[in-house]
Amino acid sequence: MNTHRNSIPLMLMLSLTLSLAMGQKRLELDVMPANGNMLIGADYYPEHWPEPRWETDLKLMKEAGFNVVRLAEFAWVLMEPSEGEYDFAWLDRFLGLAAEYDISIILGTPTAVMPAWVARKYPSALATMNTGQQIEWGARKNNCFSNDDYRRLSKGITGAMAEHFRDAPGVIGWQTDNEFAGPVCYCDDCLHTFRDWLKDKYGTLEKLNKSWGTHFWGHKVQTWDEIHIPECDSEDGSWSPSGNPGACYDWRQFNSWLNVRFQHDQVAIIREICPDKHFITHNLMSFHPEVSYYDLGEDLDFVSWDNYPVWAGPDIPYRASMAADLMRGIKQKNFLIMEQTAGPTGWGVFWRNTRPGEIRKICYQQLAHGADGQIWFRWRTCTAGREQYWHGLLGHDGKPLRRYNEAAQVAEEYRDLEKYIRGTTVKSAVAIIYDYHSIWSLWGQTGFEGNNVQDAIARYYNAFFRAGINVDLVNTDTDLSAYKLVLTPDLIILPDKLAEKLTAYVENGGVLMADCRTGVKDEHNLAWERTLPGALSPVMGIEIEEYGSITPDFSYKINSEQLFEGSMTATHYIDWINPKGAEIKAGYDQWHLDSFAAVTRNEHGRGSGWYVGTIAKEEAFYDGLVDAMLRDAGIEKILDLPAGVEAYLRQGSDNTLLFLINHTEEKKTVKVPEGKKELISNSLTGVELELDRYEVKVIKL
Ligand code: GAL
Repeated sequence: MNTHRNSIPLMLMLSLTLSLAMGQKRLELDVMPANGNMLIGADYYPEHWPEPRWETDLKLMKEAGFNVVRLAEFAWVLMEPSEGEYDFAWLDRFLGLAAEYDISIILGTPTAVMPAWVARKYPSALATMNTGQQIEWGARKNNCFSNDDYRRLSKGITGAMAEHFRDAPGVIGWQTDNEFAGPVCYCDDCLHTFRDWLKDKYGTLEKLNKSWGTHFWGHKVQTWDEIHIPECDSEDGSWSPSGNPGACYDWRQFNSWLNVRFQHDQVAIIREICPDKHFITHNLMSFHPEVSYYDLGEDLDFVSWDNYPVWAGPDIPYRASMAADLMRGIKQKNFLIMEQTAGPTGWGVFWRNTRPGEIRKICYQQLAHGADGQIWFRWRTCTAGREQYWHGLLGHDGKPLRRYNEAAQVAEEYRDLEKYIRGTTVKSAVAIIYDYHSIWSLWGQTGFEGNNVQDAIARYYNAFFRAGINVDLVNTDTDLSAYKLVLTPDLIILPDKLAEKLTAYVENGGVLMADCRTGVKDEHNLAWERTLPGALSPVMGIEIEEYGSITPDFSYKINSEQLFEGSMTATHYIDWINPKGAEIKAGYDQWHLDSFAAVTRNEHGRGSGWYVGTIAKEEAFYDGLVDAMLRDAGIEKILDLPAGVEAYLRQGSDNTLLFLINHTEEKKTVKVPEGKKELISNSLTGVELELDRYEVKVIKL
């Protein structure tokens, strides 16, 4: 074995911490540099295949038009078979071969799976579950993020890789760990770190007691040692946890911070050893709520994400579209697809196969939303391990067949499109606020059953999708002045500063929409002593003195002469809205509710505030509402779309590209601007354009 010792000297570690603590700014790298090519490739595991096969795979990749692979994110034990003994020889051999085929390399830091020797030597590195039982070694994502030994070892392997590969041929960037999302660990280390984090946040117990509202149930704490990990989750989700919601809210934030800190350790090292020329990214998981992706993203050049939209029958992939808009919103820039659906997915059970044309249109959907690179998971279906049924572009047999050919077609088309795509991104007139504080507040205390931020956003988002309107999903601190319409679904946490910002946005001419449960709580997750929607009451021109949930066996009729035809169905929840100056846009047909509004609009300053006080069953409710809000905000639809066809715009200084994607298996006809160039077929458009099943068109406007 070719090994050498490699560790990071203490002084270097100190200087890393210092330079980052001093907040030195560096220029972020982009997925697609101005003078570089689009990244197109696959996630590859050289350690899974006999060495003589490597060249066959690289040759096939090259023939398919690929130029990148991601490697090594689970190969810790192979790179560090025992503490401080490193073996990169096998990877060097692969990198050398990849360079011959012009295939670039993204290296994963391998800390998502601890080697067995780590667990044996440092048993406390394994996380403890909320039952008090320690996780057995043998899966992945099973480490405690507070454990000093694990952090030290993570820095050790990261530093050793960075030193070894800093000048290696073809290495262009890094992926930190894999899909940060915990686990949440309940060990003593975590408890002590939590207490320190709280000391840092609150300074005094008096402040902590006030923020947590510990006068309730006599939960006042008088020493820091009296703080314990709150019970925030039921083991199987079947009962309501009884921990203090303020403590749980902090526990969620603390756990997010633990992941971010762990990543930061690695980023600091890579930046110091491989400055400037290597990018650093991480593969996110769309709407997983455990970690604030905004915080995680701060340390990265750009974000990447893992997109698996194929499960049951073919349907409209609204969520993949919405997720892409969040991924772009995290750093307000284009992103990379680090893992893209390549075939049937599943661990114990595999779901349906991708149909001909589907792999391609999944890619184009992401391209339309700002993906500047495309990597399939995985190259070849593995013959061993838990993911034997998570299929790659090649099957177990390693033959380049239908799915490989489809990926090659995408690569070829992308290469032709590259010159148009470079420098373009998505520009939107509509923003939807995606707020982790509200997510963490509602987690374990949803108010009405089933309430969660992601579903709340989706109700409106899907209507924008059907209308063919670009949307940004953004954080609460984003500058909203460029948007004409802003929605804040389920914004339960409404600190005064945010309410002031939203009020100013409307006063300056913006159209704002808020809905059920907006403004219930302050920044500590304590309920405001205010009539709802709290600080937004003047903007909305309403007061909500009462509200209630609707159990699944009940529903009420919603009527409106302005938003939709016929009547719609109110489900889940109702705000009893008293208009105080607002115009009623929809109301209820129910004796005890008929004096209350369901939807209102209020003119305030130079803009207007819309409020939606229920959840409708029908899509038509949201289509009518979104239509009316778009008109109010002066946003024009670019096209009239048939059901199942998605339209999205990417724009740059030279190009405006209209992507049309047929997500269905039926032929669709769309009226389009005439005489424009359709870039895939290289032909001019007529007044109408036909899209075959799963077909994609890219029109240069
Ligand atoms: C992803 C993960 C991959 C692989 C894949 C299939 O979430 O990043 O490593 O596990 O799922 O299960």
